[in-house]
This record gives sequence, C-alpha cells and structure tokens, in this order.
Amino acid sequence: MRFDIITLFPDMFGSLFSGGVVKKALEKGLIEVHVHDLRDFAESKHKQVDDRPFGGGQGMVLKPEPIFSAVEKIRDGLDIPVYLLSPQGKKFDHRMAEDLAAMPRLILICGRYEGVDERVMEYLATEEISVGDFVLTGGEPAALIVVDAVSRFVPQVVGKIESVRQESFIEGLYDFPHYTRPRDFKGKRVPDVLFSGDHKKIQDWRRKKALEKTWRLRPGMIERNKLSPEDIKILEEIHKGRKSK
Ligand SMILES: C[S@@+](CC[C@H](N)C(=O)[O-])C[C@H]1O[C@@H](n2cnc3c(N)ncnc32)[C@H](O)[C@@H]1O
Repeated sequence: MRFDIITLFPDMFGSLFSGGVVKKALEKGLIEVHVHDLRDFAESKHKQVDDRPFGGGQGMVLKPEPIFSAVEKIRDGLDIPVYLLSPQGKKFDHRMAEDLAAMPRLILICGRYEGVDERVMEYLATEEISVGDFVLTGGEPAALIVVDAVSRFVPQVVGKIESVRQESFIEGLYDFPHYTRPRDFKGKRVPDVLFSGDHKKIQDWRRKKALEKTWRLRPGMIERNKLSPEDIKILEEIHKGRKSK
C-alpha cells in the first residue's frame, strides 16, 4: 500500500517512520510513504502557497493551484483517491482505517493556517477526514494518525492479523486488560485467573472485563447483534451489581 502526503512541513513525518512497526513495514516494502513538499508545486517566484482570505478576516488560506498541481503530478493519470485532513471531515475510526487499507494507494493533504481553499474540497477531495472534534494547528499529526492506523490493517504489517482483530472497537468492545511480569508489583497483584492454565476460564474472564469496561465507558458502542447469550448474562449481572450499590 502506498501513501502520498502533501504538506508544508515534510520534516514532521520523520519521527513516525524512524522506529517501530511502521519502520519495519517500510523496510519490508509492505507500505510506501512518499512525502511531498507543497512549496515545490508553487508557481510564483517566491514559492507562495497561501494568501489572504477573500471577503476579509483573520489568517491565511492555502491556495488551490499548488495543491491541484501536486495531486495531478502524484496521480500521473491514475485514479487515486484524495483525502483532505480537516476538523470538518468524517470522523476517522477503525472501520474507516480498515476500508482505507483495502486501497492500493491514497493521497493525504495536510491543511495549515485558516485552512484550505474550498475548491479543494469541492473539486478535488474524495472525502474530508477528521481525527476528532478539536482543532489542530495543521493536518500533519492527523495524517500521521491515519498512516499509522491504516498500516496496521495492511496484511503482514502487524505480526498476526488476529491480534489486530482482537483489539478495541473491532467487535464493538474495548480490548481486555493486559498484564506482564512482575506478578506482584508493590502489592498490586495480577489477577489469579491468568495463572490458572485454564484457557476457557481465561477467555471468559477477558470477555467479561472487556464487556465491563465498554459498558462503563462507552455503552453505546456495544453492538447487541454481536453479543452471545453468555455476554448478555454478564451484562445483566453488571447491571444488577450497579443497581444494588
Ligand atoms: C487551524 S486548522 C483550520 C481550522 C479551520 N479554520 C476550521 O475552523 O475548521 C489548520 C489545518 O489543520 C488540520 N486539522 C485541524 N484539526 C484537524 C482535525 N481534527 N482532523 C484533521 N485535520 C485537522 C486541517 O488540515 C486544517 O486545514
């Protein structure tokens, strides 16, 4: 899978790609990331990429011409979807990450300042993507999030695809708790069930913990049609326990 990122700050991408799973995926050629400096596509002598907003107001707006030129050059006649990072976009979540990972290529545009000339949204972008209901100073951290989360769904990037499938959100539940050595950390002990050697018991305990946490923090995320009769029993017990407190 190949990502092309258009940005005014190409150096900001070094950190993600210099270590961990993403670095390994790049080295193995499972993913490719090409970062393009928007300024290289500016036509004017002074490499101007932004200008004052028509109609007045604060700040600067990214001009359309360099962005259209960058996308045209990257596409090189191919039909590659273009995503504009924007606080006004569709909320990025694990489903979108999985859908994007099914594409062989995608282009990400990072906005800056007051944002991007509206014609980029109207005539160029396939979709706008938001990483949350807050405003960042630029689209670069958002693009890093997208590349990281999408890469995890690209086959072989994460050692075992089952470990991705078990994680938070996948089944409408948060992940279960994880523990490692030491068994006793300053009196804070790892639950005994994890040493029982009984796989069924451990599995049931993990499911219960995932249900409990999701019910406590994000009850709306639980998808009823994915619950087993045992899950429903567990949830009823949690509910009763709460009522009796
Ligand atoms: C300061 S913001 C512009 C905010 C814009 N004036 C508004 O109120 O919607 C500059 C750039 O940061 C990026 N950005 C900010 N918040 C974001 C978010 N939550 N998700 C994705 N990109 C974001 C976008 O690329 C945006 O063009």
